[in-house]
Amino acid sequence: MEINTSVPHPARIYDYFIGGHNHFAADRETAAEVLRRSPSARIAARENRAFLGRAVRYLTAEAGIRQFLDIGAGLPTTSNVHEVAQEIAPAARVVYVDNDPLVLAHARTLLTSAPEGRTAYIHADLGDPAAILSHPDTRAVLDFGQPIALMLVAILHFVPDELQPAQIIATLLDALPSGSYLVASHLTTEHDAAATSAGQQTMREAGMTMQKRNSDVFAGLAFRGLDLIPPGVVLASEWRPAGTGPRPLPSEVNCYAGIARKP
Ligand SMILES: C[S@@+](CC[C@H](N)C(=O)[O-])C[C@H]1O[C@@H](n2cnc3c(N)ncnc32)[C@H](O)[C@@H]1O
Repeated sequence: MEINTSVPHPARIYDYFIGGHNHFAADRETAAEVLRRSPSARIAARENRAFLGRAVRYLTAEAGIRQFLDIGAGLPTTSNVHEVAQEIAPAARVVYVDNDPLVLAHARTLLTSAPEGRTAYIHADLGDPAAILSHPDTRAVLDFGQPIALMLVAILHFVPDELQPAQIIATLLDALPSGSYLVASHLTTEHDAAATSAGQQTMREAGMTMQKRNSDVFAGLAFRGLDLIPPGVVLASEWRPAGTGPRPLPSEVNCYAGIARKP
């Protein structure tokens, strides 16, 4: 599959923000412009990634989840979902999904499952949930008779309303049994409208779809009909933070997160 390095891509810009090495000049240029207009964007990315780790730890250690469907998985980094989950439960199973061919090229790093567990990588788009659900690798790795954690972490803000994200989420959740979970996070302009809107504008000008949403809109979109796990929909940095050290300001985090259980 062809990797176009001249066009910036969300996965690579995010990788740049969290300190990875899988990005090209076009991504770095856009990332630098986002940082110029919205200097805390890197904090948002890092707080989001830290939330993802705590979410997987919570689901595996406290909620007893052993299966994950991680859509918008991103480029492999430290503490990928299967690594965090299998540290607690070696038999955990993970299906990773992303639409960036560069993630596909690096996917073997995501396929280093513990022998007791299993991982798979699918090149697919969130906009076609039926294709993800019916993919033979999804069906081979995940048992849809047992609870599954659907991970939509820092991906929904790439799905504007006209692409009907609520419909997409409903299709995915309908396929999961009771006792499954949804983990989601989402960028917002709520706490620093000028800078975060300017950052969004930079991404759009570079050709990416981006629709940041406020917390109530995000909560309604992602978690309607589900039982939110305390503390509910909060800034990513405030979702069961590890330790008692100082945390960034809301105007630096600009990313909401939550976990909910399907009744
Ligand atoms: C900001 S990164 C988040 C990565 C990871 N979930 C995390 O939170 O650390 C967003 C990811 O979603 C992927 N993505 C964006 N839109 C997508 C779509 N429509 N279908 C599949 N993946 C998508 C991007 O390629 C990127 O890897």
